[in-house]
Amino acid sequence: MSIKISGTGSALPERVLTNADLEKMVETSDAWILERTGISQRRIVENDNVVTLAEKACRAALQDAGKTPEDVELIIVATCTMEEFFPCAACQLQARLGAVHAAGFDVNAACSGFLYALATAHAYITAGLYRNALVVGGEVLSRLVDYEDRSSCILFGDGSGAVFVEKASEGKGLISLSQGCDGPGGVAISCKTDALDKIHMDGRAVYAFATRQVPLCIQDSLDKAGLAAEEIDLFLLHQANLRILETIAKRLNIPMEKVPHNLDRYGNISSATIPVLLDELRKRGKIKAGQKIVMAGFGAGLTYGSCVLIWE
Ligand SMILES: CC(C)(COP(=O)(O)OP(=O)(O)OC[C@H]1O[C@@H](n2cnc3c(N)ncnc32)[C@H](O)[C@@H]1OP(=O)(O)O)[C@@H](O)C(=O)NCCC(=O)NCCS
Repeated sequence: MSIKISGTGSALPERVLTNADLEKMVETSDAWILERTGISQRRIVENDNVVTLAEKACRAALQDAGKTPEDVELIIVATCTMEEFFPCAACQLQARLGAVHAAGFDVNAACSGFLYALATAHAYITAGLYRNALVVGGEVLSRLVDYEDRSSCILFGDGSGAVFVEKASEGKGLISLSQGCDGPGGVAISCKTDALDKIHMDGRAVYAFATRQVPLCIQDSLDKAGLAAEEIDLFLLHQANLRILETIAKRLNIPMEKVPHNLDRYGNISSATIPVLLDELRKRGKIKAGQKIVMAGFGAGLTYGSCVLIWE
């Protein structure tokens, strides 16, 4: 028994922060950012927060799945940018949605958070504890970005993506999972809970970790699924840096046509990148029944994760 994704939704703030805007804030250039990252612009909140963005994404995912908030049994929010320690985002979301029958909690695995949250929903549902779940990635990274640090402020944006998951038919849905973390490597990207602290990042170390570990993790999930990389239709990878995506694709010997990306428009939205990308692809009719899809992410922790789905 497994789970399938039967609804998707996303919410991106309207305010756009372009490379040209960043040129006025730090010593950088549109050409440098584009060449080193592939990013042109990101979305930044004005009045929204993690919960209000997540609410919009969840309402869209529920509508897409043909469900109401009362149908939801579990809410898991992957986030690392909440403003309060508690109540957690999932409980605030439960209240805003009116999902009166749902249990809820947050998961912090940074940019791998969506995969960890999806794996958790899988575990709950396949164990028979709940029949469905809303799995959400939501971030307001602009709160934690140091807009004086040109090596990191160019990367991050705000947004949220959500999926509604429920039991899949036999042999369909999520068929394998692989997760791990490199705790000792965690110093490469950090941010303290101190309200004044901002993101500290050793970009080269994170880059080396991602390009080494993500192909291994994807390969592990493929091996568990009994599939070869060339049999996969789409690789939905955490949208951190186009060069990282290209290196992962090269290491797995897959063409970039199978690695869709939207990081040029949104930058790195941490736990929200994969569900936002998935929602965009579905709206463009690019996701079809029977397709074999890999999702993989990496991030602070250092965490990583990958899964294989047969779309139902
Ligand atoms: C951050 C990142 C884009 C930097 O690109 P890079 O090619 O590794 O660049 P380097 O850090 O080697 O820096 C090269 C030079 O560019 C400079 N530089 C850094 N940021 C710059 C910017 N925004 N504009 C112009 N120059 C910049 C550096 O100071 C350095 O100058 P120096 O050679 O005089 O010391 C890249 O390392 C990266 O994307 N890493 C992964 C980060 C990530 O994904 N984090 C989130 C994880 S979920």
